[in-house]
Amino acid sequence: MTTRPALLLVDDDAAVRDQMKCDLISDYDLLEAADRTAALSQIHQAMPPLVLLDLGLAANVNGVPEGLAILRETLQLNPLIKVIVVMDSGDRAKAVAAIQSGAYDILEKPVQLDVLKVVLQRATYLFNLEQESRAIQDKTNGSEFDGLVGSSRPMQAVFDMIRRVGTSDVPALIIGESGTGKELVARAIHRLSGRKEGPFVAINCGAIPETLLESELFGYEKGAFTGAVQQRKGTIESAQGGTLFLDEIGDMSFSLQVKLLRFLQDHKVHRLGGKNIISVDVRLLAATNVDLQEAINSGQFREDLFYRLCVITIPIPTLKERGCDITLLARTFLMKFAETQKRVLKGFTPEAIEALMAHDWPGNVRELENRVKRAVVMAEGKYVSPANLELKNPSPVDSGSTTLRGARDLHEKELVRLVLEKADGNLSKAAVELGISRPTLYQLVSRFGLRASKFPDNLEESRA
Ligand SMILES: Nc1ncnc2c1ncn2[C@@H]1O[C@H](COP(=O)(O)OP(=O)(O)OP(=O)(O)O)[C@@H](O)[C@H]1O
Ligand SMILES: [Mg+2]
Repeated sequence: MTTRPALLLVDDDAAVRDQMKCDLISDYDLLEAADRTAALSQIHQAMPPLVLLDLGLAANVNGVPEGLAILRETLQLNPLIKVIVVMDSGDRAKAVAAIQSGAYDILEKPVQLDVLKVVLQRATYLFNLEQESRAIQDKTNGSEFDGLVGSSRPMQAVFDMIRRVGTSDVPALIIGESGTGKELVARAIHRLSGRKEGPFVAINCGAIPETLLESELFGYEKGAFTGAVQQRKGTIESAQGGTLFLDEIGDMSFSLQVKLLRFLQDHKVHRLGGKNIISVDVRLLAATNVDLQEAINSGQFREDLFYRLCVITIPIPTLKERGCDITLLARTFLMKFAETQKRVLKGFTPEAIEALMAHDWPGNVRELENRVKRAVVMAEGKYVSPANLELKNPSPVDSGSTTLRGARDLHEKELVRLVLEKADGNLSKAAVELGISRPTLYQLVSRFGLRASKFPDNLEESRA
C-alpha cells in the first residue's frame, strides 16, 4: 500500500471544498478548513505537505487579506510546506504578493483539474526530496545515531527508546524481523551509554554450533578439551567494561541458556576446564527475530532468562511500516554506493520511487540496501529505474493491454518519457520536440503518471 500525502483544502465555500474532495480523494488524505483559525490549527496538528488555498477569502478585521495571512503563517510554521494558491484571474498585484510570500504555485479560477493534479504531484515530489535532504543533512551534521537513518514516526519512537535506554545500564531485548537494523540499534545504545569507551562485542548465537558456542562465550583453559592448545578468553570476558550483544538469542540451546542465566545472576564466569572465577562487568543486549513468548510456551526458551533479558523490550518496525523512510533510506544508500562505485547518479525516477513504495520488503532494510547496491552498478543513465532495482514498474498504463488504444498509449508514454529525458525535464523544450503544446504535454505527463518533476535540477526551469 502506498502512503497518500495529506492535502489541506482552505476555502470558505463548502461547495467548492466538496467538489475538490470528490476530485482528489483517491490520491490524497484530505483535510479541510473554512477560515484562518481552522487552517492553522490543522497545520499545527497534521503538518500536511500540501495546502490548496483560496486567496479570495474575505479580509480580516485589520484589512489584511486572510488568504495571504494564512500563506505567510503556514510557511513560518514549516517552510517546506507547498502552498498552492487559487485566485481570480487578472489580479496581478495579488499574484505577485502571493509569490513574494512564498506560494509554490498559482492557479487561476476556474481550476483545471488536470493541471492541478500535475502541480500537486510535483509539489509532493519536491516536498519529499527537500524533507529527505534535510534529514540526510541532519544526519551528516553528526546525529547522535551515527548510521541509523529514519525520520518516520515509528523510527522516531525507536530513537526515543534508544535515548532513554542508552543512558541506563539495564539489559534490553531488541525484537524485529530479519534485516530491520537490530544490530545497528544495539550499537547506538552502546554509543550513548557510559560504556561507550569500552568494547562492543557481538556474537551471533544462531551461527555457531552449540558445542562451540559454549567455549566461544565462556572461553577455555589450555588442555580443557582436545584441540585446546592454549588458553582463550571467551566473548563475555572480552566485553569487560563494555557491551555484550547476543544476536539471535532465540537460537541458543536450552542448556546454554541455563549457563547464561547463571552468568546474568552473578556476573561471574569460569572458563571451560578452569578453576578461577572471573568477575565480568558487561551490559547485556540481546536481539531476536523469533517470538520468544511462543518459544517459552513450546518449552524452547527459559522464562526466567526471558525476564532477565527483557527488562526493556525495543520493538523495531518492519521497513514497510516506516512509510517515507523507504525513499529516505534508498537515497542515502544511493549516495553512499554511488560514491564508493564512483558513479554519477542523480537519483531515482518517479516510477522507481513508486515501485519502492509499492514493494513489500520482506527482507527489510538489508533487502533495500542490496537492491540499491545492485542498481548503482546496473543503472545506464543518471537515474535509477524500477528495472535497475529489479522491481515491477507500477505503470498506470496497462502494459499487458492487447487493444490498439493500449498499444498506442504504451508507445506514446515511452516516447514522451524519452523526449523528456533528453530535454532534461524541461517541459517547453520537450513540447517543441514532440510538436505539441505545453498544456497537452502536461496532460500526457499526468495521464501516464510520468511527472514533470522527474528531473529535480530543472524544476524551476520547467515551471517557467
Ligand atoms: N535505519 C537504518 N539506517 C541505515 N542503515 C540501516 C538501518 N537499518 C538497517 N540498516 C542496514 O541494514 C543492514 C541490516 O541491518 P542489521 O544487521 O542491523 O539488521 P538485523 O535486524 O540485525 O538483521 P538480522 O536479524 O538478519 O541479523 C545493515 O547493513 C545495516 O547497516
Ligand atoms: Mg543481526
